[in-house]
Amino acid sequence: MAFIPVAAGCLGLTGQKGTFVQSVRPRLPTAGVGAAVTAARPMTMGGDRIATGGGFDNSANDAEGTLTTEWGAAIGDKDHSLVATPKGGLLLQDTVTLQQLSRFNRERIPERVVHARGTGAYGYFQAYGDESALTSAKFLSDTSIKTPLFCRFSMVTLSKSVAETVRDVRGFAVKMRTSQGIWDLVFNNLPVFFVRDQRHFVDVIHAFKPDPQSNLQDFDRVFDLMGALGGEATHMLTYLFSDHGIPASYQEMDGNSVHAYKFINADRKVTYVKLRWRSLAGIRNLTEEEAHALQADDLNHATRSLYMDIKQGKFPEYELQIQEMKPEQLDDFEFNPLDSTKHWPEDQFPYRPVGKMTLDELPPNFFEHTEQVAFSPANMLAGSIEASEDKLLQSRLVSYFSAHEYRVGTNRHLIPVNKPANETRHYHADGQMNTGENKGTLNYEPSLVHKAYTDEPKAKIYEQPLPSGTYVQEEINKTLNFKQAGDLYRSFSEKERANLVYNLECKLKMSTSDLIKNTMSSHFMKADEEYGTRVAEAIGADLETVKQMAAALEE
Ligand code: HEM
Repeated sequence: MAFIPVAAGCLGLTGQKGTFVQSVRPRLPTAGVGAAVTAARPMTMGGDRIATGGGFDNSANDAEGTLTTEWGAAIGDKDHSLVATPKGGLLLQDTVTLQQLSRFNRERIPERVVHARGTGAYGYFQAYGDESALTSAKFLSDTSIKTPLFCRFSMVTLSKSVAETVRDVRGFAVKMRTSQGIWDLVFNNLPVFFVRDQRHFVDVIHAFKPDPQSNLQDFDRVFDLMGALGGEATHMLTYLFSDHGIPASYQEMDGNSVHAYKFINADRKVTYVKLRWRSLAGIRNLTEEEAHALQADDLNHATRSLYMDIKQGKFPEYELQIQEMKPEQLDDFEFNPLDSTKHWPEDQFPYRPVGKMTLDELPPNFFEHTEQVAFSPANMLAGSIEASEDKLLQSRLVSYFSAHEYRVGTNRHLIPVNKPANETRHYHADGQMNTGENKGTLNYEPSLVHKAYTDEPKAKIYEQPLPSGTYVQEEINKTLNFKQAGDLYRSFSEKERANLVYNLECKLKMSTSDLIKNTMSSHFMKADEEYGTRVAEAIGADLETVKQMAAALEE
């Protein structure tokens, strides 16, 4: 066992008999070992389409030159710790060993509390035409601008080691580095969400995550919560348990904004928009059986598929499409268009393409880029693209910054993957891992004697008129919890309906609670009688009770 003799004699060399040693056995033929390792490892992931990304280059799996410490000093013996005698006795002055151990302990940062498993790629966006009638964001109105971006796809609820075949929502986040600053489009593959108020967001995530006592994921907990919420999640659950709940790959799924945003033009005219990334490869999903068969061989088929496609030059492409609504239309519907459990019917609000994203480069290092990337819905272009009043979206505007400061660090915006393409000018200062944005003496404003940075009037936040009234804590007046879920069910083919019912059956029939089975069936029945009846029969719920419960529900 190694010991660290810190007492007299071990920190200094004087007065010791003999010599401290590092070499205790002949060195291995380094070049030969390197060559053997290189030859044995198939080049599945390296190669042509990897961005340079700065740092040292070992992309060819061959390393040139001597090994150094992080501080640049050459290492005399890379294979052996410094010991008192060849038999052992590790010495405290072996700082190479000490730093290696301590640095290793700090290799992990907290995983994202949601969307932990992900994969990403670099690419670019180009507009198709001129959207200046809607927004003063320049990159959406100039077809010659190639806006660089980083895109991260993810799984939402479970931890970083989850298989990519599980039924779960997929995240679809894009960081556009525009000349006017960063615009993060932090979307999901499904077009609606479970809840419309942040107060139950954490509950939803807790219910999907493993049971805090057994550490097992348990859908009874999910349906217990969803049932108790009274039906607001019915639309989202219908999507999640349909074939869309297991996309075949990240290249073959869409990304949806879920929320409405505001586009603002140079005359300060507002248009509400919903956005989506439409996969140009088309949508392909996996059935429960296909997913099970796939995961027997590969837990990460989606990451592998994205990497292989980009490496082979089959660059994934997605079209950015928008739906538009005028502010005066917001009250015209039986649902609230700013409710994130609803979509805007496409027959009234057709999607229109505005540009295309191409993903063509793999990050040179997963951790540095894909793990440290920090997306926030609050990163918008004020005066051109802003948040709507959707209260779920508004809560997200504060949540992500705080997550990044905790997870990545105070100066996370200085990491290359997060850095804006344009110059930044501000008075935020210091903090861990600061790499010197602040120059000179002026770290405040305004100043009587110095010239300070000025405003950009065009970026002034849109001045939203407020209705007169009182602050409230209450449910929105048009909940319409079930209608769109019923429309969705009826839009499915018979095969898709059967898959949906089977997928719900697989999870719901394990429930030991009749109350959960009956309540969930009643929500599906309220959406569509056939849908609820099929689920109730499949899971052995009491049909008469289910009918009575459904009849008692209000839209
Ligand atoms: C109140 C509701 C929500 C809250 C409080 C919330 C909060 C969070 C937090 C804290 C993270 C981790 C951020 C990080 O560590 O970098 C995250 C990630 C993410 N969220 Fe949300 N979220 C909400 C709803 C949504 C919705 C509705 C969508 C989609 C429209 C969404 C899409 C995403 C995506 C795509 C990521 C992963 C970003 C990445 O790849 O790094 N979230 N969310």
